[in-house]
Amino acid sequence: MRRVTIRHIAEMKAKGEKIPMVTAYDYTSARLADEAGIPILLVGDSLGMVMLGHDSTIPVTMDDMVHHTKAVARGVKRSLILGDLPFMSYQIDTSQALTNAARLVQEGGAHSIKLEGGEKVAETIRRVVDAGIPVMGHIGLTPQSVHGFGGYRVQGRNRREAVQLLRDAQAVEQAGAYAVVLELVPASLARFISQRLTIPTIGIGAGVGCDGQVQVLHDMLGLFTDFVPKHTKQFAHLGDTIREAFTQYVQEVKDGTFPAEEHSFTMDEAVLDELTVVQ
Ligand code: KIV
Repeated sequence: MRRVTIRHIAEMKAKGEKIPMVTAYDYTSARLADEAGIPILLVGDSLGMVMLGHDSTIPVTMDDMVHHTKAVARGVKRSLILGDLPFMSYQIDTSQALTNAARLVQEGGAHSIKLEGGEKVAETIRRVVDAGIPVMGHIGLTPQSVHGFGGYRVQGRNRREAVQLLRDAQAVEQAGAYAVVLELVPASLARFISQRLTIPTIGIGAGVGCDGQVQVLHDMLGLFTDFVPKHTKQFAHLGDTIREAFTQYVQEVKDGTFPAEEHSFTMDEAVLDELTVVQ
């Protein structure tokens, strides 16, 4: 079984083969996604919301990211591991970006890193790539800038925004990124950008014309039900399954049907008989 590398990802676009990507934040989910043959696992800073219960990705720290990347790396045999740089871990200067990108790779075990932004972060992408760390860009709605955008809204609907989005995509490509996420972008614009770029685009809320798709694991499996984004398809309803299992467990503990004999251990009953005479 060969490891997926950034060369395979480039070949997939060249062959017109779609690229599935999903987030993973722990050993067990990473193992399952790896076994299912998903080529790229993103340890996304969305873990701040779905794993840690924050209301945005902004509070996520480098230590959070390293901790979860390590767990994912232990579960993966084949997939390419993509670690996300969290808010303010790369924006201050390139030396900060290099230090933190290196942490995700060296300490966490990531094979590549992702950071948000277009033209404005192109130089940072170039420096990280020059240091030998593959970078995936992320443009459109970039959640770390949610306050700057004034909410989670579709990007690129008017001429000014559409032109800027194309420039951002081209800047990310020219800086040496191996792929770019397009988040919350109208489907026709995302298709246009995907055709203009030689590197793959990975869409979330960006339509079927992208070269690949990414979904947040908790959304696509129906585990996170606080809200369901429009771009999510629930491929399973594990939240309901888990709730039902817990309810049944409570019932069986209460009525004594769990644990049954097959979940219990036996011993020589003579030893027990002897115990009755021990004071
Ligand atoms: O953190 C994340 O899960 C992401 C995806 C939404 C692309 O950045």
